[in-house]
Amino acid sequence: MDTPRIGILGGYGYTGKSLARLLLEHTDARLIIAGRNPQQARAAAQEWNQQFAGGRVCGVYADASCAHSLWEAFEGVDLLVVAAPVARHAETVARAALRIDCDYLDIVFSPRKLRILRALAEDISRAGRTFITDAGYHPGLPALLVRYAGSLLDSVEAANVFSVINPQGGFPLTGSLEEFVQELSRFQCMAYRDGQWYRATGLGLSEMRQADFGFGFGLRSCVPMMLEEMRALPQMFPSLRETAFYVAGFNWFVDWIVMPLMILGGRIAPRWTRKPLAYLLHWGTRLCANPPYGAVIRLEACGWNGCERQRLCVQLYHPDPYALTAIATAASILQYLRGRARKPGLWFAGHLGDPSEAIQDMQAMGAKYQHEMATIQGTCPFCGR
Ligand SMILES: NC(=O)c1ccc[n+]([C@@H]2O[C@H](COP(=O)([O-])OP(=O)(O)OC[C@H]3O[C@@H](n4cnc5c(N)ncnc54)[C@H](OP(=O)(O)O)[C@@H]3O)[C@@H](O)[C@H]2O)c1
Repeated sequence: MDTPRIGILGGYGYTGKSLARLLLEHTDARLIIAGRNPQQARAAAQEWNQQFAGGRVCGVYADASCAHSLWEAFEGVDLLVVAAPVARHAETVARAALRIDCDYLDIVFSPRKLRILRALAEDISRAGRTFITDAGYHPGLPALLVRYAGSLLDSVEAANVFSVINPQGGFPLTGSLEEFVQELSRFQCMAYRDGQWYRATGLGLSEMRQADFGFGFGLRSCVPMMLEEMRALPQMFPSLRETAFYVAGFNWFVDWIVMPLMILGGRIAPRWTRKPLAYLLHWGTRLCANPPYGAVIRLEACGWNGCERQRLCVQLYHPDPYALTAIATAASILQYLRGRARKPGLWFAGHLGDPSEAIQDMQAMGAKYQHEMATIQGTCPFCGR
């Protein structure tokens, strides 16, 4: 691809800003950053153009709820990146990408968005366009890490992924936090065990696991969180007997007071409770948090290489969770630009491209990486078999 043109909807938000910097540093792409505040978009573009030569960035107005504004803002782009909390407008945005005739990548965590994209899957393939969904940290990295285990082991038997997030200063109070609250309040606690997915009971406590995170985070209790990208992994790796994605808690206040309220609020009156609960989550992660800060994603896997049973542990860390999301997203975009992750149809980011290359790219962009592979003597510490 000659100098690519990449549009970022939400390009001056927390993740969008970090992503714009990475794309300016690691590609020669020209960027169109957009949101509902044109002054902010232009000011951000101006700042980038002062830091990077070539006037590569322009800032424009676009509102995800208005198709015309999307056509105007992103006309001529090769790839539209959606880094804005716009699940409610998923159809408008996806149809706008098809009309502009560009490829698409989103980092939006929303089952509703997935349903809409799946309904458009035939149109996407017919148009010969690449639509990559659920890119980022989580969703995004869990399936990629399981595929990484699958690439290093001849037959992978267990591959579980764990995450801990502790943002310094708490989660900022943004529209995205409301979207996050909505998704947290209705996530499903599911894990794959011996040939089937089953639902954990007691808010996931029946399937609770401990993970020993590096980078100072230590031993944490984690509950399973279903991510759609995980569902296809047992078909991709028929030897896989167990897999799941687990999340650690935040702190005592959020885990025992805010989370139960979120689950209750999500069931009883999601519209009315979303804003106050986002506020509580913001203050809870701000006032009750202790160091270390940042985000760690950890893979624990085991399986066979020849006749040797081996275990693999991989961890990726960054002190800023938004930066790690942007790094994971940029790694997907780099593979897209190189052509590895460019094929017509609708794809999960975690299912596309080469996982080893993605991990190398993430390290080059500032993620700290730990890797340990060893022969298992006796019982596997990860799967207990
Ligand atoms: N996959 C992952 O690992 C991961 C991790 C973190 C976040 N996320 C997701 O990434 C998205 C962005 O998160 P964030 O925390 O970076 O968000 P943020 O800081 O709140 O930024 C959101 C950006 O989107 C713009 N925006 C909001 N509504 C819009 C609309 N209707 N039309 C056009 N632009 C709009 C905002 O600008 P204006 O308000 O001025 O329009 C802002 O630039 C969210 O969907 C979040 O759930 C995913």
